[in-house]
Amino acid sequence: MSELRSGLGEAAGAAFAALGLPADLGRVTASDRPDLADFQCNGALAAAKSGAGPPREIAARIAAALAASPLVATAEIAGPGFVNIRVSDGALAARAAELAADPRSGARRVQASRRVIVDYGGPNVAKEMHVGHLRASIIGEAIKRLFRFLGDEVQGDAHFGDWGFQMGLLIIACGDEDPDIAALVDNSAPGPADEAILDRIGLDDLDRLYPAAAARAKTDPAYRDRARRATADLQAGKAGALFLWRHFARVTKVALERDFHTLGVDFDLWRGESDVDPLIAPMVADLAIKGLLVDDAGARIVRVAREDDKRPAPPLLVVSSEGSAMYGTTDLATILDRRTFFDPELCLYVVDQRQADHFLTVFRAAYLAGYASEGSLEHVGFGTMNGTDGKPFKTRAGGVLKLRDLIDMVAGKARERLAAADLGQELAPEDFQATALMVGVAALKFADLINYRGTSYVFDLERFSSFEGKTGPYLLYQAVRVKSLLRKAAEVGATPGPIAIADAAERELTLALDAFAGVLAEAYERRAPNLIAEHAFRLARSFSRFYGACPVLAAPDAQTRASRLALAQTTLAQLELALEVLGISIPERM
Ligand code: ARG
Repeated sequence: MSELRSGLGEAAGAAFAALGLPADLGRVTASDRPDLADFQCNGALAAAKSGAGPPREIAARIAAALAASPLVATAEIAGPGFVNIRVSDGALAARAAELAADPRSGARRVQASRRVIVDYGGPNVAKEMHVGHLRASIIGEAIKRLFRFLGDEVQGDAHFGDWGFQMGLLIIACGDEDPDIAALVDNSAPGPADEAILDRIGLDDLDRLYPAAAARAKTDPAYRDRARRATADLQAGKAGALFLWRHFARVTKVALERDFHTLGVDFDLWRGESDVDPLIAPMVADLAIKGLLVDDAGARIVRVAREDDKRPAPPLLVVSSEGSAMYGTTDLATILDRRTFFDPELCLYVVDQRQADHFLTVFRAAYLAGYASEGSLEHVGFGTMNGTDGKPFKTRAGGVLKLRDLIDMVAGKARERLAAADLGQELAPEDFQATALMVGVAALKFADLINYRGTSYVFDLERFSSFEGKTGPYLLYQAVRVKSLLRKAAEVGATPGPIAIADAAERELTLALDAFAGVLAEAYERRAPNLIAEHAFRLARSFSRFYGACPVLAAPDAQTRASRLALAQTTLAQLELALEVLGISIPERM
């Protein structure tokens, strides 16, 4: 048995086929009017449009055929020719039993597993994280987990930004501040004895120096030129510069990994732009041999525009006039690199929508050069998280956001809310901090994931942190309620048993459970984790109604109690899977 919707679709398809009409008219969707029906089929209207006869007559025959199916309780014609379908209690019970027994809660696997890279997060050395990185991390993590759960072989790569102009800026800024460091940069053979100098520079210093240096470079051309030369020197392998650079990358990475981990974001690969540096010179030579590289006022570019472009596609800047590799150059070389160690069949770049042109250019250059097969590179863009002013979210001080500050902020709000809410749970005081952190992170992540990724949304911590409404804390609370119910059941020796469906709330809950497989498949196709977030909410809300309407431990008889316990357990299992895919952890109690 598979999802009810597809089972019904097959039955309706067979009914159309029996009338000599195309079987795909039998497509069944969730009902627009859940009060009247569970599912509906609109095929008779389409059939009538193509001249098969009056729609209500066709619908009547389809309804009659459907009514004979064991899946169906009633099938009725409505309006101009819709067929409204109510599933039989027996079919619901059978489906619930199937889901209860399935550790994947009905989730199918892809037919052929692919090797997939998810390029997401994209943090940089020194340059602080901004909301683009936050969304990339949250959405990318969910997409990575989804693809993996459905059976692909997936590697998530942070694509650490450690090789650009910002490195040159930092090198000169640190050197200007401390003559020992300036000397170190010019030292042609730095060694262990010089480590002590490096210890003078911590993350705080980078955070302090970088914004100032970046601002100065904008207005001071001489300073900018020095930074450009420092960047070129670094990329040319100057020993002292590399020595210092490695330190920058190390301290940044340690802090970032820790903060990402708190957010439930863990990269499989932490490769940097710098890792592909050795591939760049041969790649440039190869592009030249292939006739793709052209001179453009001292720089070398690849033109990727096509005649039918509606907007002019910018060329790929491969080598700047100073001889530096650019952002697109490392991206192109990364495509080659990934081929050597993983040979991905699909590469998803979960990056801010504002970089759409960049990726269009890089992908076209890769296809032109034969570095990837057409269509195997995909930009999965997203909108911004805005402040109440409608602009990309900034901290109160007006600066870009620091991941750590954001985490502290959401955890603080969750502590406040948890302390104020009386959730009736037995949360031990020593678990309070850790639980608040989980609740805060869930609030943040769910608020992001519930929006279709292309949509921008407003950061509203008050609303995100509520225990009511479509929020992470609401979901966690429902999950924790089921856990507590199951613990109590175990204490009194109540065990789950065969599922029977009688109450309307049991029907609703089972219909929600049934939809999971289809939701995952669609989320996968559309790279749209919001569908899973929406499903998790529907499931939690259905559980809440069920729990209100159908006493479990106080059920009228032992069979009903066992059945309802089984439904509760199946709900928890599916909610856990859905939240696991979204990268949201559930506490034991709250
Ligand atoms: N580091 C980049 C930035 O801060 C994002 C990297 C995205 N990934 C990529 N392959 N270009 O904008």
